[in-house]
Amino acid sequence: MLFSIPRLTIAALVSGGAANAAYSIASDDDIKSTAAQVAWDLMQYYKGNESGQTPGILPGPPPDGDYYWWEGGAMWGAMIDYWHLTGDDSYVNVTTDALLWQVGPNKDYMPPNVTASLGNDDQGFWGMSAMLAAENNFPNPPADQPQWLALAQAVFNTQAAPDRHDDTCNGGLRWQIPLSNNGYNYKNSIANGCFFNLGARLARYTNNQSYADWAEKTWDWMRSVQLMDDNYNIYDGGHVEHNCTDINKAQFSYNNGVFLLGAAYMYNYTNGSDIWHDRLNSLVNATISTFFPESIAYEIACEEHMSCTTDMLSFKGYVHRWMATTTVIAPFTAPIILPVLQTSAEAAVATCTGEDNQRTCGFSWKTKVYDGSHGAGQQMNVLGAVSSLLIHETKAPVTNSTGGTSVGDANAGSRSDHFDNYHAPPTAGDKAGAGILTFVVLAAAVGTFGWMSTGI
Ligand SMILES: *[C@@H]1O[C@H](CO)[C@@H](O)[C@H](O)[C@H]1NC(C)=O
Ligand SMILES: *[C@@H]1O[C@H](CO)[C@@H](O)[C@H](O)[C@H]1NC(C)=O
Ligand SMILES: *[C@@H]1O[C@H](CO)[C@@H](O)[C@H](O)[C@H]1NC(C)=O
Ligand SMILES: *[C@@H]1O[C@H](CO)[C@@H](O)[C@H](O)[C@H]1NC(C)=O
Ligand SMILES: *[C@@H]1O[C@H](CO)[C@@H](O)[C@H](O)[C@H]1NC(C)=O
Ligand SMILES: *[C@@H]1O[C@H](CO)[C@@H](O)[C@H](O)[C@H]1NC(C)=O
Ligand SMILES: *[C@@H]1O[C@H](CO)[C@@H](O)[C@H](O)[C@H]1NC(C)=O
Ligand SMILES: *[C@@H]1O[C@H](CO)[C@@H](O)[C@H](O)[C@H]1NC(C)=O
Ligand SMILES: *[C@@H]1O[C@H](CO)[C@@H](O)[C@H](O)[C@H]1NC(C)=O
Repeated sequence: MLFSIPRLTIAALVSGGAANAAYSIASDDDIKSTAAQVAWDLMQYYKGNESGQTPGILPGPPPDGDYYWWEGGAMWGAMIDYWHLTGDDSYVNVTTDALLWQVGPNKDYMPPNVTASLGNDDQGFWGMSAMLAAENNFPNPPADQPQWLALAQAVFNTQAAPDRHDDTCNGGLRWQIPLSNNGYNYKNSIANGCFFNLGARLARYTNNQSYADWAEKTWDWMRSVQLMDDNYNIYDGGHVEHNCTDINKAQFSYNNGVFLLGAAYMYNYTNGSDIWHDRLNSLVNATISTFFPESIAYEIACEEHMSCTTDMLSFKGYVHRWMATTTVIAPFTAPIILPVLQTSAEAAVATCTGEDNQRTCGFSWKTKVYDGSHGAGQQMNVLGAVSSLLIHETKAPVTNSTGGTSVGDANAGSRSDHFDNYHAPPTAGDKAGAGILTFVVLAAAVGTFGWMSTGI
């Protein structure tokens, strides 16, 4: 075996490195072993279980590391799907510890440490990962700990509370939660998309119409302010002082993904209603035509000039996973979606030939070669794309009446902090805004966008 190493190196050199075999996804076994390696490489970015580090989060937030709080929450969702799709339980404990550490004193994913940059979307991503744990029957925490379903309900309930829904722009959630945060005056698609998504999923899981009513209301609001237009394009957001008419037209794939999956749950919850069939069908179509040119995931707002922020570098993976789940709960979408996900995943793994280990994954998949861009988001994207190829070999998301075992609490989150006395410390506020500011400078430099507020 020792002998084969130099020979491999020579072969790679002779052919300029291009012969360096990318991962295979040709069979289920190949998909599983590829996903296992990509997952392991992803977890190398996680330091939260090392001594002196904070469980649950990726290194950050900036300037202490690259990643904002929300991305850790999003990553555990990817790991829960990885477990569900492949059966590999290597990361069950680290995932559980992470999801439980960050719940905060009121068990609603609003830990005081992150208040200075706490958006409804950040909280929503942690809530959606808890929801996913319930839907996948991820091992339940010990009885004295908060339970997955109750955590998702707590996030939903805090977001449905009257103080988060004022009359500016005729409704809708603001981006930030505490009123002294940068971005409190912005109402955006991702904050409302996470809330919509959770509402639709809780409706299906618990068979409680109240959640569906909120999902309907949120969808209607998105349409009425034209954050989702008549052609199902979804734009970033607008400001309350302009009645949300100053719409920032940047389009991000995770907005489509989060609404698409939510629409699929509404379709399923309504037993295949015509209205949700049409909405979902149109959204699938719009999503594929905007974000999958030649059937390969493409982050249209920032990929061409590689002006994507760390946040944006992780969106493709969510979209792959959410579209895959859509094909299970809205089977009519499978023939449209699955071939696209297959082609996209093939391009994704072709980029995994980078860095010293010669298997680090890149970001720009359409080139089908490693582009030098690496990080937790890039690894997470490929993990989502690869593991989702097993979607039809695994159990559909359960509900309370089809085998779900997570214990809920319809009143969870009712004692939550409303931040009445919270004022963002100036230094923390500056820090929270730093990611956005960097992006504005970058965007101006490449002339791609005007002012943006899309950092989560
Ligand atoms: C942290 O978790 C990862 C993934 O499970 C594991 O490989 C690593 O050994 C753990 N580190 C510590 C210090 O426990
Ligand atoms: C997870 O934790 C349980 C209980 O502490 C333990 O029995 C099990 O071996 C752990 N699994 C892994 C993969 O570390
Ligand atoms: C909050 O920050 C402190 C100090 O960094 C850390 O010890 C603690 O674990 C953090 N709590 C959460 C929930 O992240
Ligand atoms: C349904 O959900 C609503 C909103 O969270 C809650 O107030 C109500 O108690 C729930 N109903 C049941 C039967 O659980
Ligand atoms: C704000 O926009 C909504 C449509 O989203 C419109 O119905 C409403 O009249 C507008 N309000 C003001 C004060 O312009
Ligand atoms: C869907 O069908 C089931 C079984 O017939 C029924 O119990 C449920 O109320 C229906 N759901 C909706 C939202 O119509
Ligand atoms: C899908 O979207 C394209 C481009 O927007 C449009 O031309 C086409 O009619 C749509 N197809 C369906 C079935 O909605
Ligand atoms: C709802 O989802 C289940 C999978 O849990 C699927 O079998 C069923 O066909 C879906 N319903 C509709 C109307 O597509
Ligand atoms: C879920 O099911 C369990 C037992 O099957 C039942 O005790 C519980 O009340 C149900 N919860 C909801 C929200 O329907």
